[in-house]
Amino acid sequence: MSELSHTIRVNLGERSYDVVVGTGLLAKAGRFCAPFLKRPRCAIVTDETVASLHLDSLIDGLAVSGIEITTIKLPPGERTKCWEMLERTVEHLLDMKVERDDFVIAFGGGVIGDLAGFAASILRRGVRFIQIPTSLLAQVDSSVGGKTGINSPSGKNLIGAFHQPHLVLADIDVLDTLSDREFLAGYGEVAKYGLLGDLKFFEWLEKQGPVLATGNKVLRAEAVARSVQAKADIVARDEHERGDRALLNLGHTFGHALEAATGYSDRLLHGEGVSIGMGLAFELSAQLGLCSQETPSRVRAHLSAMKMKTRLADIEGVLPGASDLISLMSQDKKVVGGISAFILARGIGEAFVTRDVPSEAVHSVLSDALNER
Ligand code: GLY
Repeated sequence: MSELSHTIRVNLGERSYDVVVGTGLLAKAGRFCAPFLKRPRCAIVTDETVASLHLDSLIDGLAVSGIEITTIKLPPGERTKCWEMLERTVEHLLDMKVERDDFVIAFGGGVIGDLAGFAASILRRGVRFIQIPTSLLAQVDSSVGGKTGINSPSGKNLIGAFHQPHLVLADIDVLDTLSDREFLAGYGEVAKYGLLGDLKFFEWLEKQGPVLATGNKVLRAEAVARSVQAKADIVARDEHERGDRALLNLGHTFGHALEAATGYSDRLLHGEGVSIGMGLAFELSAQLGLCSQETPSRVRAHLSAMKMKTRLADIEGVLPGASDLISLMSQDKKVVGGISAFILARGIGEAFVTRDVPSEAVHSVLSDALNER
């Protein structure tokens, strides 16, 4: 195995699978996928943007192993995660005569992975699927762990199923076509793994992050592999989010409220909300005396060095007040009995889940952050 190639096993008993991280994986897709197939055909679900950039390479890579392809191309963007597109996808897969033993390939970012995975979970009561994630966010987070679903008018990801893929191919080369903004939004999730459970990884990112952002593939492959390993370890302990898996939501309680406040629009990408949210989660931890006062500054210093959004002041346009942001938090899907879950930290790499957070403290952190604008 070269320093560009890593295989991480997600250990879930009979639902275990490999995540392969490396370069040139689209060209080798046939070799990786063929052993799973009972007949040499697959249905690819993708979006128009990914299709125009990378679909030919994937089809060629599958054709090397004689795998025939049918393709569904959906519009790009978060709005695609809806009932209408789910229905269109499922009906299309049925028209294509996708059978119980066939595989669906989800080829795209988080939206396509979530929607295609959910379509696979309900088609003929469940067909198997392979994830080929094309965004950094999807490679390090959403393609691994089996969460699939769509959005409802009542909120994000409220309709879905746990449906584990049989294989994940994370090709580092496809990250080259991401805009800097999209890459950095995904990097928020990479930094999250260091911040929640691995100080040494965070220290490595402090050193290597800026080089990795400029395109170094060895470092990118290592960052993706270490992130996937961190996620695989958590998912293996708690597949259905009864406990530890909630740690993966570090920064998300604040982040989701900010995404809702900005209308899930281009004003704030999910990963940007997470980045700002992680700063706020450490600020809240410091205010509650859980970690030192310097810790939130160190967190933000790294994210700023990466040229990421770190403060509410980095969001353009008007934002609601602290009380309205707290109301938006209570619509988060992690709310139980009206109480939001927070991921707080005793230091970098020492996060924990709690519902025991005084709302005055949350209000004060948000008011201070809003006053900086
Ligand atoms: N993205 C959070 C999780 O997979 O649990």
